[in-house]
Amino acid sequence: MSILVTGGAGYIGSHVVKTLLNKFDVITLDNLNKGYEKAVLGGRLIKGDLGDKKLLKKIFENNNIEAVIHLAADSLVGESMKNPAKYYHNNLDKSIKLLEMMVEYNIKNIVFSSTAAVYGEPQKIPITEEHPICPSNPYGESKYFFEKVMERYDKIFDLKYISLRYFNAAGADPAGEIGEDHKPETHLIPLILDVALNKREKIFIFGTDYSTRDGTCVRDYIHVNDLATAHLLALRALMQGKESSIYNLGNGQGYTVREVIETVRRVTNRNIIAEKAKRRPGDPARLIASSQKIKEELNWSANLPDLDTIIETAWHWHKKGGFDKK
Ligand code: UFG
Repeated sequence: MSILVTGGAGYIGSHVVKTLLNKFDVITLDNLNKGYEKAVLGGRLIKGDLGDKKLLKKIFENNNIEAVIHLAADSLVGESMKNPAKYYHNNLDKSIKLLEMMVEYNIKNIVFSSTAAVYGEPQKIPITEEHPICPSNPYGESKYFFEKVMERYDKIFDLKYISLRYFNAAGADPAGEIGEDHKPETHLIPLILDVALNKREKIFIFGTDYSTRDGTCVRDYIHVNDLATAHLLALRALMQGKESSIYNLGNGQGYTVREVIETVRRVTNRNIIAEKAKRRPGDPARLIASSQKIKEELNWSANLPDLDTIIETAWHWHKKGGFDKK
Protein backbone atom coordinates (compact mmCIF):
# COMPACT_ATOMS: atom_id res chain seq x y z
CA MET A 1 0.00 0.00 0.00
CA SER A 2 1.33 3.42 -0.95
CA ILE A 3 0.66 7.03 -0.06
CA LEU A 4 0.59 9.45 -2.99
CA VAL A 5 1.98 12.88 -2.08
CA THR A 6 1.30 15.55 -4.70
CA GLY A 7 3.71 18.49 -4.48
CA GLY A 8 6.09 16.38 -2.42
CA ALA A 9 9.17 18.11 -3.86
CA GLY A 10 8.09 21.53 -2.59
CA TYR A 11 8.97 23.26 0.67
CA ILE A 12 6.24 21.81 2.87
CA GLY A 13 5.75 18.68 0.76
CA SER A 14 9.38 17.58 1.09
CA HIS A 15 9.15 17.79 4.89
CA VAL A 16 5.91 15.79 4.77
CA VAL A 17 7.56 13.13 2.60
CA LYS A 18 10.50 12.87 4.99
CA THR A 19 8.10 12.38 7.92
CA LEU A 20 6.30 9.57 6.08
CA LEU A 21 9.42 7.64 5.04
CA ASN A 22 10.07 4.41 6.94
CA LYS A 23 6.39 4.37 7.88
CA PHE A 24 4.80 4.16 4.45
CA ASP A 25 5.71 3.48 0.87
CA VAL A 26 5.68 7.02 -0.55
CA ILE A 27 5.08 8.09 -4.14
CA THR A 28 5.71 11.76 -4.82
CA LEU A 29 4.09 13.44 -7.82
CA ASP A 30 5.61 16.83 -8.61
CA ASN A 31 6.05 18.83 -11.82
CA LEU A 32 9.24 20.35 -10.36
CA ASN A 33 8.16 23.87 -11.41
CA LYS A 34 8.90 25.07 -7.91
CA GLY A 35 10.05 21.89 -6.23
CA TYR A 36 13.44 20.21 -6.33
CA GLU A 37 14.31 16.64 -7.14
CA LYS A 38 16.93 16.76 -4.38
CA ALA A 39 14.25 17.71 -1.86
CA VAL A 40 12.61 14.30 -2.13
CA LEU A 41 14.64 12.28 0.34
CA GLY A 42 13.11 8.90 -0.32
CA GLY A 43 10.36 6.87 -1.87
CA ARG A 44 9.60 7.25 -5.56
CA LEU A 45 9.43 10.56 -7.43
CA ILE A 46 7.23 10.80 -10.50
CA LYS A 47 7.88 13.96 -12.48
CA GLY A 48 4.65 15.23 -13.93
CA ASP A 49 1.74 17.57 -13.57
CA LEU A 50 -1.40 16.96 -11.59
CA GLY A 51 -3.36 18.11 -14.63
CA ASP A 52 -1.96 15.26 -16.76
CA LYS A 53 -4.93 12.92 -16.67
CA LYS A 54 -3.18 10.08 -18.48
CA LEU A 55 -0.30 10.16 -16.03
CA LEU A 56 -2.65 10.26 -13.03
CA LYS A 57 -4.54 7.28 -14.38
CA LYS A 58 -1.30 5.38 -14.86
CA ILE A 59 -0.23 6.13 -11.28
CA PHE A 60 -3.53 4.95 -9.83
CA GLU A 61 -3.67 1.95 -12.17
CA ASN A 62 -0.15 0.69 -11.46
CA ASN A 63 0.08 1.29 -7.72
CA ASN A 64 -1.85 0.22 -4.73
CA ILE A 65 -2.59 3.70 -3.39
CA GLU A 66 -4.19 3.78 0.00
CA ALA A 67 -4.50 7.52 0.55
CA VAL A 68 -3.49 10.86 -0.93
CA ILE A 69 -1.79 13.86 0.65
CA HIS A 70 -2.47 16.75 -1.70
CA LEU A 71 -0.10 19.71 -1.51
CA ALA A 72 0.57 20.52 -5.17
CA ALA A 73 -0.60 24.10 -5.69
CA ASP A 74 0.36 27.64 -6.54
CA SER A 75 0.59 29.62 -3.34
CA LEU A 76 1.49 33.25 -3.96
CA VAL A 77 -1.19 35.67 -2.81
CA GLY A 78 0.18 38.54 -4.94
CA GLU A 79 0.39 36.45 -8.08
CA SER A 80 -3.16 35.21 -7.53
CA MET A 81 -4.43 38.81 -7.66
CA LYS A 82 -2.72 39.35 -11.02
CA ASN A 83 -3.54 35.97 -12.55
CA PRO A 84 -6.63 34.53 -10.84
CA ALA A 85 -7.32 32.01 -13.62
CA LYS A 86 -4.01 30.29 -12.92
CA TYR A 87 -5.12 29.75 -9.30
CA TYR A 88 -8.63 28.53 -10.09
CA HIS A 89 -7.23 26.23 -12.75
CA ASN A 90 -4.20 24.80 -10.95
CA ASN A 91 -5.59 24.72 -7.42
CA LEU A 92 -9.20 23.88 -8.12
CA ASP A 93 -9.70 22.23 -11.56
CA LYS A 94 -6.69 19.99 -11.23
CA SER A 95 -7.57 19.06 -7.66
CA ILE A 96 -11.06 18.03 -8.78
CA LYS A 97 -9.46 15.76 -11.39
CA LEU A 98 -7.49 14.16 -8.60
CA LEU A 99 -10.69 13.55 -6.61
CA GLU A 100 -12.36 12.07 -9.68
CA MET A 101 -9.49 9.64 -10.02
CA MET A 102 -9.77 8.75 -6.34
CA VAL A 103 -13.46 8.00 -6.81
CA GLU A 104 -12.69 5.89 -9.88
CA TYR A 105 -10.12 3.84 -7.99
CA ASN A 106 -12.13 3.75 -4.77
CA ILE A 107 -9.56 5.60 -2.66
CA LYS A 108 -11.33 7.04 0.34
CA ASN A 109 -8.86 9.26 2.20
CA ILE A 110 -7.26 12.61 1.38
CA VAL A 111 -5.27 15.07 3.50
CA PHE A 112 -5.37 18.53 1.96
CA SER A 113 -3.01 21.46 2.28
CA SER A 114 -5.17 24.52 2.95
CA THR A 115 -4.39 27.95 4.29
CA ALA A 116 -5.25 30.67 6.78
CA ALA A 117 -5.88 32.81 3.70
CA VAL A 118 -9.41 31.32 3.58
CA TYR A 119 -10.39 33.60 6.50
CA GLY A 120 -9.39 36.92 4.96
CA GLU A 121 -9.26 39.88 7.36
CA PRO A 122 -9.96 38.33 10.77
CA GLN A 123 -12.87 39.55 12.86
CA LYS A 124 -11.71 37.77 15.98
CA ILE A 125 -8.28 36.63 17.25
CA PRO A 126 -7.26 33.85 17.75
CA ILE A 127 -8.88 32.42 14.63
CA THR A 128 -10.80 29.20 15.19
CA GLU A 129 -12.15 26.94 12.46
CA GLU A 130 -15.61 28.46 13.07
CA HIS A 131 -14.40 31.92 12.08
CA PRO A 132 -16.33 33.31 9.06
CA ILE A 133 -14.74 32.52 5.72
CA CYS A 134 -14.01 35.53 3.55
CA PRO A 135 -10.89 35.04 1.44
CA SER A 136 -9.50 38.32 0.16
CA ASN A 137 -7.65 36.82 -2.80
CA PRO A 138 -8.05 34.05 -5.41
CA TYR A 139 -5.36 31.96 -3.72
CA GLY A 140 -7.30 31.62 -0.46
CA GLU A 141 -10.53 31.31 -2.40
CA SER A 142 -9.24 28.47 -4.58
CA LYS A 143 -8.29 26.54 -1.44
CA TYR A 144 -11.66 27.21 0.17
CA PHE A 145 -13.57 26.19 -2.96
CA PHE A 146 -11.74 22.88 -2.97
CA GLU A 147 -12.62 22.31 0.68
CA LYS A 148 -16.28 22.69 -0.34
CA VAL A 149 -15.78 20.25 -3.22
CA MET A 150 -14.29 17.69 -0.80
CA GLU A 151 -17.26 18.22 1.54
CA ARG A 152 -19.59 17.42 -1.33
CA TYR A 153 -17.56 14.36 -2.42
CA ASP A 154 -17.74 13.10 1.14
CA LYS A 155 -21.56 13.34 1.04
CA ILE A 156 -21.87 11.76 -2.39
CA PHE A 157 -19.00 9.25 -2.47
CA ASP A 158 -18.09 8.86 1.20
CA LEU A 159 -14.61 10.20 0.41
CA LYS A 160 -13.10 11.37 3.72
CA TYR A 161 -10.85 14.42 3.98
CA ILE A 162 -8.84 16.34 6.51
CA SER A 163 -8.03 19.88 5.49
CA LEU A 164 -5.13 21.55 7.27
CA ARG A 165 -5.23 25.35 7.25
CA TYR A 166 -1.63 26.42 7.70
CA PHE A 167 -0.68 29.76 9.15
CA ASN A 168 2.90 30.92 8.36
CA ALA A 169 5.10 27.93 7.60
CA ALA A 170 8.72 28.61 8.51
CA GLY A 171 12.03 26.98 9.44
CA ALA A 172 13.77 23.96 7.98
CA ASP A 173 14.38 20.38 8.95
CA PRO A 174 17.08 20.55 11.66
CA ALA A 175 19.08 17.84 9.86
CA GLY A 176 19.82 20.51 7.24
CA GLU A 177 19.09 18.48 4.09
CA ILE A 178 15.89 20.25 3.08
CA GLY A 179 14.45 23.71 3.62
CA GLU A 180 12.79 26.70 2.03
CA ASP A 181 14.11 27.71 -1.39
CA HIS A 182 11.58 29.66 -3.42
CA LYS A 183 12.46 31.41 -6.62
CA PRO A 184 11.58 34.23 -6.45
CA GLU A 185 11.46 34.42 -2.66
CA THR A 186 8.66 36.53 -1.21
CA HIS A 187 8.47 35.27 2.38
CA LEU A 188 9.66 37.32 5.30
CA ILE A 189 12.06 34.99 7.14
CA PRO A 190 14.09 33.74 4.13
CA LEU A 191 14.33 37.32 2.84
CA ILE A 192 15.73 38.57 6.15
CA LEU A 193 18.18 35.65 6.18
CA ASP A 194 19.32 36.72 2.69
CA VAL A 195 20.13 40.13 4.18
CA ALA A 196 22.10 38.39 6.96
CA LEU A 197 24.05 36.55 4.24
CA ASN A 198 24.65 39.78 2.27
CA LYS A 199 22.64 38.40 -0.63
CA ARG A 200 20.27 41.34 -0.25
CA GLU A 201 21.04 44.81 0.93
CA LYS A 202 18.02 45.32 3.19
CA ILE A 203 14.62 44.09 4.22
CA PHE A 204 11.62 46.30 3.47
CA ILE A 205 8.99 46.42 6.19
CA PHE A 206 5.65 46.45 4.38
CA GLY A 207 3.59 48.86 6.46
CA THR A 208 4.41 50.45 9.79
CA ASP A 209 1.02 52.02 10.51
CA TYR A 210 -1.04 48.93 11.37
CA SER A 211 -2.93 48.95 14.66
CA THR A 212 -0.53 46.45 16.24
CA ARG A 213 1.94 46.87 19.12
CA ASP A 214 4.70 48.30 16.90
CA GLY A 215 2.73 49.19 13.78
CA THR A 216 3.85 46.17 11.73
CA CYS A 217 1.89 43.04 10.79
CA VAL A 218 1.55 40.15 13.22
CA ARG A 219 1.85 36.55 12.02
CA ASP A 220 1.77 33.12 13.63
CA TYR A 221 4.90 31.22 12.51
CA ILE A 222 4.86 27.44 12.68
CA HIS A 223 7.80 25.12 12.10
CA VAL A 224 7.50 23.15 8.87
CA ASN A 225 8.23 19.86 10.69
CA ASP A 226 5.34 20.54 13.05
CA LEU A 227 3.16 20.99 9.98
CA ALA A 228 4.53 17.74 8.56
CA THR A 229 3.69 15.83 11.75
CA ALA A 230 0.10 17.06 11.50
CA HIS A 231 -0.16 15.43 8.06
CA LEU A 232 0.98 12.12 9.49
CA LEU A 233 -1.55 12.33 12.34
CA ALA A 234 -4.30 13.31 9.91
CA LEU A 235 -3.45 10.43 7.60
CA ARG A 236 -3.49 7.92 10.44
CA ALA A 237 -6.77 9.29 11.79
CA LEU A 238 -8.45 8.93 8.40
CA MET A 239 -7.08 5.42 8.00
CA GLN A 240 -8.59 4.56 11.37
CA GLY A 241 -11.99 5.71 10.19
CA LYS A 242 -12.14 9.29 11.41
CA GLU A 243 -14.79 11.55 9.95
CA SER A 244 -13.81 14.44 7.66
CA SER A 245 -12.53 17.52 9.43
CA ILE A 246 -10.80 20.87 9.10
CA TYR A 247 -7.98 22.04 11.37
CA ASN A 248 -6.01 25.24 11.82
CA LEU A 249 -2.29 24.89 12.32
CA GLY A 250 -0.31 27.57 14.07
CA ASN A 251 1.39 28.14 17.41
CA GLY A 252 -1.17 30.59 18.76
CA GLN A 253 1.50 33.21 19.22
CA GLY A 254 1.90 36.27 17.03
CA TYR A 255 5.11 38.12 16.17
CA THR A 256 5.35 41.47 14.43
CA VAL A 257 7.58 41.95 11.39
CA ARG A 258 9.94 44.04 13.54
CA GLU A 259 10.09 41.27 16.17
CA VAL A 260 10.96 38.73 13.50
CA ILE A 261 13.75 40.99 12.21
CA GLU A 262 15.03 41.45 15.76
CA THR A 263 14.98 37.68 16.34
CA VAL A 264 16.97 37.10 13.14
CA ARG A 265 19.52 39.71 14.32
CA ARG A 266 19.86 37.87 17.63
CA VAL A 267 20.06 34.39 16.12
CA THR A 268 22.49 35.22 13.32
CA ASN A 269 24.43 37.92 15.12
CA ARG A 270 24.55 39.84 11.83
CA ASN A 271 23.71 43.39 10.97
CA ILE A 272 20.36 43.64 9.20
CA ILE A 273 19.26 46.83 7.55
CA ALA A 274 15.51 47.31 7.63
CA GLU A 275 13.66 50.05 5.80
CA LYS A 276 10.07 51.20 6.12
CA ALA A 277 7.98 50.66 3.00
CA LYS A 278 4.35 50.97 1.93
CA ARG A 279 1.78 48.37 2.97
CA ARG A 280 1.57 45.32 0.73
CA PRO A 281 -1.99 45.18 -0.66
CA GLY A 282 -4.13 42.44 0.87
CA ASP A 283 -2.08 41.91 4.05
CA PRO A 284 -4.27 41.46 7.13
CA ALA A 285 -2.89 43.24 10.21
CA ARG A 286 -2.95 40.13 12.41
CA LEU A 287 -3.24 36.40 11.81
CA ILE A 288 -3.07 34.17 14.87
CA ALA A 289 -4.40 30.64 14.97
CA SER A 290 -6.24 28.71 17.56
CA SER A 291 -4.99 25.13 17.07
CA GLN A 292 -7.02 23.82 19.98
CA LYS A 293 -9.13 21.57 17.78
CA ILE A 294 -6.24 19.59 16.28
CA LYS A 295 -4.61 19.35 19.72
CA GLU A 296 -7.76 17.87 21.19
CA GLU A 297 -8.85 15.66 18.32
CA LEU A 298 -5.57 14.42 16.85
CA ASN A 299 -3.31 14.95 19.85
CA TRP A 300 -1.08 17.22 17.79
CA SER A 301 1.42 19.45 19.55
CA ALA A 302 4.29 21.57 18.31
CA ASN A 303 7.81 20.28 18.94
CA LEU A 304 9.50 23.48 17.81
CA PRO A 305 7.16 26.32 18.77
CA ASP A 306 9.81 28.83 19.74
CA LEU A 307 10.53 31.54 17.13
CA ASP A 308 14.27 31.56 17.93
CA THR A 309 14.44 27.82 17.25
CA ILE A 310 12.39 28.12 14.07
CA ILE A 311 14.76 30.80 12.79
CA GLU A 312 17.87 28.87 13.92
CA THR A 313 16.80 25.90 11.78
CA ALA A 314 16.14 28.19 8.80
CA TRP A 315 19.53 29.90 9.32
CA HIS A 316 21.33 26.56 9.43
CA TRP A 317 19.75 25.68 6.07
CA HIS A 318 20.22 29.09 4.43
CA LYS A 319 23.92 29.23 5.28
CA LYS A 320 24.35 26.11 3.15
CA GLY A 321 23.05 28.01 0.12
CA GLY A 322 19.84 26.12 -0.68
CA PHE A 323 19.35 23.33 -3.22
CA ASP A 324 21.62 24.86 -5.87
CA LYS A 325 24.60 24.19 -3.61
CA LYS A 326 23.59 20.65 -2.73
N1 UFG B 1 6.80 41.19 4.84
C1 UFG B 1 7.58 42.32 4.88
N2 UFG B 1 8.62 42.40 4.01
C2 UFG B 1 8.90 41.44 3.09
C3 UFG B 1 8.09 40.28 3.07
C4 UFG B 1 7.04 40.20 3.96
O1 UFG B 1 7.37 43.23 5.67
O2 UFG B 1 9.85 41.62 2.32
C5 UFG B 1 5.69 41.07 5.80
C6 UFG B 1 4.35 40.89 5.14
O3 UFG B 1 3.78 42.13 4.82
C7 UFG B 1 3.58 40.11 6.20
C8 UFG B 1 4.66 39.30 6.92
O4 UFG B 1 5.89 39.92 6.58
O5 UFG B 1 3.03 41.01 7.10
C9 UFG B 1 4.70 37.86 6.49
O6 UFG B 1 4.74 37.82 5.06
P1 UFG B 1 4.98 36.49 4.24
O7 UFG B 1 4.97 36.87 2.79
O8 UFG B 1 6.17 35.78 4.76
O9 UFG B 1 3.72 35.58 4.58
P2 UFG B 1 2.15 35.92 4.46
O10 UFG B 1 1.64 36.10 5.84
O11 UFG B 1 1.88 37.00 3.50
O12 UFG B 1 1.61 34.61 3.72
C10 UFG B 1 1.72 33.31 4.24
C11 UFG B 1 1.77 32.31 3.10
C12 UFG B 1 0.51 32.35 2.32
C13 UFG B 1 -0.67 32.17 3.23
C14 UFG B 1 -0.62 33.12 4.39
C15 UFG B 1 -1.70 32.76 5.33
O13 UFG B 1 2.83 32.58 2.24
O14 UFG B 1 0.50 31.33 1.36
O15 UFG B 1 0.64 33.03 5.05
O16 UFG B 1 -1.43 33.18 6.58
F1 UFG B 1 -1.81 32.39 2.55
